[in-house]
Amino acid sequence: MSFSKDFLWGAASAAHQLEGAYLEDGKGLGIWNFFEHEGGHIAYNETADVSCDHYHHMKEDVALMKQIGLKSYRFSVSWPRVMPEGIGRVNEKGLQFYSDLVDELISAGIEPMITLFHWNLPLALFEKGGWKNPDIADWFGEYTEVVVKRLGDRVKYWMTINEPQMFIGFGLGMGLMAPFEKNDTQTMLNASVNVFRAHGKAVTAIRKYVGAEAKIGMAPTGSVWIPKDDSSKELERCREMSFAIDKDSFFMGNSWWADPLFLGHYPEGSEEIFGDMLPKLSKEEWDEISQPLDFYGFNVYEGAHEHFDDETKYGRYEYMGSPHTMMGWSITPEVLYYAPKFFYERYHKPIMITENGMAGMDWESMDGKVHDYQRIDFTRRYLLELERAVNDGIDVIGYQHWSIMDNFEWCQGYKMRFGLIHVDYRTLKRTLKDSAYWYHDVIASNGANLSV
Ligand code: FCB
Repeated sequence: MSFSKDFLWGAASAAHQLEGAYLEDGKGLGIWNFFEHEGGHIAYNETADVSCDHYHHMKEDVALMKQIGLKSYRFSVSWPRVMPEGIGRVNEKGLQFYSDLVDELISAGIEPMITLFHWNLPLALFEKGGWKNPDIADWFGEYTEVVVKRLGDRVKYWMTINEPQMFIGFGLGMGLMAPFEKNDTQTMLNASVNVFRAHGKAVTAIRKYVGAEAKIGMAPTGSVWIPKDDSSKELERCREMSFAIDKDSFFMGNSWWADPLFLGHYPEGSEEIFGDMLPKLSKEEWDEISQPLDFYGFNVYEGAHEHFDDETKYGRYEYMGSPHTMMGWSITPEVLYYAPKFFYERYHKPIMITENGMAGMDWESMDGKVHDYQRIDFTRRYLLELERAVNDGIDVIGYQHWSIMDNFEWCQGYKMRFGLIHVDYRTLKRTLKDSAYWYHDVIASNGANLSV
């Protein structure tokens, strides 16, 4: 057994990170635009105003995806581009951009996959409380309806929300991402429920307009623990830690977000931990939140592991000098075996890796090429583990490499390069990295060349 013949080999991006054209054709402001311009939050005070200017280079970019041989492309729709005030008025030109992108992808033979929310909340809604306001469930439902009515005739794959661990956990809990707030436990619990309900409304809208054909999921992240060996004791210990929640960092966990959606209830132990603070939801609300989904999307870069040496000394690294990427993330390929296994065994849904990749020190060499051997080695190691999961009978339906091209890496700005395609931000010139040619061959051989 190996990757299925219709395996969705792809690459991913997010609107705010690559589109640019931040005020063009009637687009409204998002919170990231606001905080970038406020200054003091992003490396070198960079902004995503222009970024890769994908908005104007869309056809060229889809042609490059075709050259790489992608079967799928995961991108996000910018809420403020489509609805400048977040609700009410629709910006036709913004919607047209995504419609054209979808057409272009389809004619290139690439399956479009849409993420509805990848962090750029319309500023106008942030001013009304954003994710802290319970009305956001309806706002998100309204926005989803606008998008699915227009694109749902051609787009089958939908992801409602990207990584609530980050925009809620880092954004509202730890002050590390827009809107850079630190709220109390009760506020975090309520904001989480607003996310669950918004997700539910979006699923309702997608099913209504796209129907049974639709393939719906979410794209969360979270820590998955890598066992030291495959003994059943060690497997159970790591599984347990991967789905644990605690009072201080519940919003970073896996089960906090996934159990409500996939199992229809809070994770076990929530009542004991939160007591009266735990929001009560009606049966109708739980039903809407936990409508059946079609796959479990997962964004994954590194696994959690025991520290071989002094934990306090090495923090998240495994041991002295252990390999890590430019982001400081540990290279732990086994996570692409254990994450699909653990999620599949708990939620019984096909798995899609919705993001995986690495930031490298990539530049254009004197020969005009970008020799990113480390990205090839990284991806090969991770994909071999994913293949091991497939061979063990885990239903894995796709892999979306992060990212299709270098782009604006949130608070890190442009210094982190994650792309298969190199972007020179001075000229906007695109260059396929060596990894893009290699990935082409992986796709063409449906993964057979990984082990040679
Ligand atoms: C994920 C985000 C994505 C990108 C990668 C590196 O957490 O979803 O937008 O920034 O990390």
